[in-house]
Amino acid sequence: MDKIVIHGGARLKGELQVLGAKNAALPLQCAALLGDGPTTYRHVPRLSDVQTMNELLVGLGCAVEGDRTLTIDPTGVQDGPKEAPYELVKTMRASVTVMGPLLGRHGFARVSLPGGCAIGARPIDQHLRGFEALGAKIRMSHGYVEVKAKRLKGARINFDMATVGGTQNVMMAASMAKGTTVLENAAREPEVQELAVVLGKMGAKIAGAGSSTIEIEGVDNLQGIDHAILPDRIEAGTFAIAAAITGGDLLLLDAPSSHMHAVIAKLEEAGAECRVEPGGLRVIGPDELAPIDLVTRPHPGFPTDMQAQMMVLATLARGQSVITETIFENRFMHVPELCRLGADIHVNGNVAVIRGKARYTGSIVMATDLRASACLVLAGLVAEGKTEIRRVYHLDRGYETIEKRLRKVGAKIRRYHGAPS
Ligand code: EPU
Repeated sequence: MDKIVIHGGARLKGELQVLGAKNAALPLQCAALLGDGPTTYRHVPRLSDVQTMNELLVGLGCAVEGDRTLTIDPTGVQDGPKEAPYELVKTMRASVTVMGPLLGRHGFARVSLPGGCAIGARPIDQHLRGFEALGAKIRMSHGYVEVKAKRLKGARINFDMATVGGTQNVMMAASMAKGTTVLENAAREPEVQELAVVLGKMGAKIAGAGSSTIEIEGVDNLQGIDHAILPDRIEAGTFAIAAAITGGDLLLLDAPSSHMHAVIAKLEEAGAECRVEPGGLRVIGPDELAPIDLVTRPHPGFPTDMQAQMMVLATLARGQSVITETIFENRFMHVPELCRLGADIHVNGNVAVIRGKARYTGSIVMATDLRASACLVLAGLVAEGKTEIRRVYHLDRGYETIEKRLRKVGAKIRRYHGAPS
């Protein structure tokens, strides 16, 4: 197993290219299932989650070719098994997003129930409620859920909570239903909007994506298309914090600033300078960071996927910060690891109270999930001496060659292959 070693203290300076968004790519890969012909995506990030989704699509009967430019041909799915097996769903929950397109296009899907994961229980009841409202029959057995319908019928669906995956899954199913579907309390994330753009290009009739009410008029056929994936706002935000905490100056090329208002606002509150420039977003770290309070919320609120990284910034600020996590019930797994490196953080339920001015000293730490791993890299960048991060496969799910890219802007960071776990 690989490990990443960082010698802290370097000030990051230069330009970093922001790559395509993982959380946009995954549902878009699933959307390719709806087309009558091949779909090509450009700017696809080279990530293990994207590869896992490709494996799943191949298992369903798709032909998949390329990586940065990825072509998915779904014509073989008609005779395929239409099943997402446990082995793949357990490594990546986004696998459940094949359910909507399979149901919409082929009238059937069988998907392993995902079970919980490191950050919480994460049920899929809202996805299933949506399919049921569209007329699908749902059956659970042997740890799998089967959804079945001759032809889905449009319906009005009011989600109990704004779920990103649920909105995307039901949106894909509804795009091939008979009649009109209205999704209320829909997720407003940019990745939902991106999916609506792609489905629109394929021939779907969707209005309102990006607001909490989405209207979908079902069509009989959708076609394969060519599309460039939007840049990753979470990767950009992670690099922005790297600049802020190292007193650095980074130009984040193609950073999607218009989707990053909540993160930029907190960076500015902490004293960082954020400038939208023609090529991207420039972030300049201050001499001293100010404390920040934040609550994670669905978009356009502060994203849960930036909570762990922003916590590192808070540990370095000159006073007390309070961070409240409202999206996932168990997303403070990074706290004990940060404390081992020198942070002073007290957690009570979903609230973390952070006393600032941490003096991080390097040590061996264990990555527990994707964003927790990113926060350990950030802590390593400011720690005195050597920080060794184990289980970096979590990092490879969402950040492409992070060590090479951070090294280019001055970080002393290296990956070693085949280290003990
Ligand atoms: N929820 C339910 N029932 C459902 C669906 C969701 O109770 O049927 C709950 C979840 O348990 C959670 C909340 O609703 O507490 C929000 O979950 P959501 O469905 O919005 O999340 P998701 O679609 O499973 C995506 C991202 C996550 C990101 C969340 C929130 C992808 C592939 N994943 O997950 O990304 O944290 O939205 O923004 O798009 C990451 O990239 O590190 C990551 C975890």
